[in-house]
Amino acid sequence: MYTWNIGKVVEYKHWNKTLHSLYVESDIEPFEAGQFVKAALEINGEVIGRPYSLVNPPDSRPLEFYYIEVPGGLLTSHLVKLGYGDEILVAPRAHGFMILDEVPRAKHLWLMATGTGVGPFLSILATDKSWQRFERVVLVYAVRTLSDLSYQECISQILVKHPGQFTFIPFLSREPANFALSGRIPQAIIDGRLEAHAGIKISIENSQIMLCGNPQMIKDTTNALIERGLKKHHRFSAGQITTENYW
Ligand SMILES: Cc1cc2nc3c(=O)[nH]c(=O)nc-3n(C[C@H](O)[C@H](O)[C@H](O)COP(=O)(O)OP(=O)(O)OC[C@H]3O[C@@H](n4cnc5c(N)ncnc54)[C@H](O)[C@@H]3O)c2cc1C
Ligand SMILES: NC(=O)c1ccc[n+]([C@@H]2O[C@H](COP(=O)([O-])OP(=O)(O)OC[C@H]3O[C@@H](n4cnc5c(N)ncnc54)[C@H](OP(=O)(O)O)[C@@H]3O)[C@@H](O)[C@H]2O)c1
Repeated sequence: MYTWNIGKVVEYKHWNKTLHSLYVESDIEPFEAGQFVKAALEINGEVIGRPYSLVNPPDSRPLEFYYIEVPGGLLTSHLVKLGYGDEILVAPRAHGFMILDEVPRAKHLWLMATGTGVGPFLSILATDKSWQRFERVVLVYAVRTLSDLSYQECISQILVKHPGQFTFIPFLSREPANFALSGRIPQAIIDGRLEAHAGIKISIENSQIMLCGNPQMIKDTTNALIERGLKKHHRFSAGQITTENYW
């Protein structure tokens, strides 16, 4: 077991009733964009820790966490009560293989997230590596309603910084909107809407795909991609699909 670092909350943001960002000053060993770290609180004499992706890129501080308050969730129901100067425990080291160094070279990088799964992709998109290694980068971000579509300003800035190279495709599944696709990611792969919108095809030769968030989305999307001939990427057997389940 490691010794927790004691972090301090320096800022927080409530995007809506359930979605929140927490900004924490804490020591942490160098990490890669896309990794996660355990954050914890002492609750009723017990340290309750959970993994959270880092939204900030490796060269930027404070640490940034983007999380949803899970109904009845042991830790998140306490995270939402934190305010300026409050203490939060942070593990000394980040982990995880959903990083660009683990992804084989390809022409196109597709980052597909549901909900808070967008966090690690924002960290990746803030590094030079994504723009140097891929001709095109597509961020697919699926939420239920417009109020769940956090970080729009940050995404707009990426669009301004990387015109022609970056495509943003939001999905709203429970509300109509003319700027977003409707329904779910796997269906839009099956019926061709996703590629039509991106203006590029998903293929074994040209695509690397990273999936993050809802485990059922990851399963269904992986299956839709397998139907197209793609396969999961492993260090010992190169493929095109890299995943991280949040629960
Ligand atoms: C590698 C990794 C990275 C993660 N990064 C993030 C992150 O950046 N942001 C984030 O919000 N969560 C993230 N999670 C989930 C997080 O670790 C916790 O599980 C979550 O915050 C719930 O903790 P809790 O103690 O409040 O709930 P618990 O009392 O532990 O209840 C857990 C249950 O809540 C549900 N659940 C957990 N996470 C979610 C979720 N995000 N959306 C919907 N239902 C969920 C599941 O049914 C799970 O069994 C990550 C998980 C993993 C494994
Ligand atoms: N978002 C909220 O306003 C809200 C409010 C209170 C509580 N919660 C709770 O918080 C948790 C997380 O909510 P969330 O909205 O962040 O995440 P979520 O339930 O994972 O939904 C995010 C997006 O993923 C889609 N999705 C779900 N299953 C999928 C699948 N198998 N394949 C493809 N896409 C799929 C959803 O579409 P669909 O809409 O079609 O499912 C939605 O567009 C849930 O347990 C929820 O009960 C959320």
